[in-house]
Amino acid sequence: MNKILNFWAVVPAAGVGKRMNADRPKQYLELAGKTVIEQTLSGLLQANVFSAVAVAISPEDPYWPELEVAKHQLVITAPGGKERADSVLSGLKAIRNHANDDDWVLVHDAARPCLTTGDIHLLIDTLVNDDVGGILALSSHDTLKNVQDCDILGTMDRRLIWRALTPQMFRYGMLKTALEEAEGNPAVTDEASALELKGLRPKIVEGRPDNIKITRPEDLALAQFYMEQQ
Ligand code: CTP
Ligand code: MG
Repeated sequence: MNKILNFWAVVPAAGVGKRMNADRPKQYLELAGKTVIEQTLSGLLQANVFSAVAVAISPEDPYWPELEVAKHQLVITAPGGKERADSVLSGLKAIRNHANDDDWVLVHDAARPCLTTGDIHLLIDTLVNDDVGGILALSSHDTLKNVQDCDILGTMDRRLIWRALTPQMFRYGMLKTALEEAEGNPAVTDEASALELKGLRPKIVEGRPDNIKITRPEDLALAQFYMEQQ
């Protein structure tokens, strides 16, 4: 008999948002009447597929406990770590007693509030029978240059370059092992890179371009615009 596969979400939300240059971490800035993280979590919860959502929060974060969503029955709070990968690993550990190794985990940045239910289902439906898993990604419309000290060294083949988004969807056991083995490696800036280091080949699934990561001040207005359009 087939074991029932569960889906889990892990949301790294323990960053300080340095590039945003605001008075608080960017996940607590206001976006369309809620905080950014509330928008992100309500998008994940609305998809109705996750057994739980583990959110990695900095232990010094005074904002999180004030939010209603922190008490949601499907939301589990985990302690954030020094780097994003540490926060993700902490989120995985928070569900270790519930998740099976073969279960799927979707890791999604708190700073990407415009993710649609459609893209969550597209990722899941495309990869659910895959051995490794994969990520939402975007192709590049611009011509891409290889540059050193402002000198162009060459033009890259655009067809070979994709921009990594989140969610990134991998098997619980495989992802946890890959992140543990890669601990402290600065090259691991997303989940896929931890699996690539093991010689595995995660897939890409083309996502929507409005799934932006709020990084700099101007991104907030853009996210607001996208949310209104959706
Ligand atoms: N993140 C995390 N733990 C860290 C660092 C980042 O959980 N130690 C989370 C952020 O909260 C964010 C996501 O990872 O949701 C993507 O990271 P990024 O956009 O770089 O956010 P910040 O690190 O907060 O921003 P900055 O790099 O500008 O400081
Ligand atoms: Mg960062």
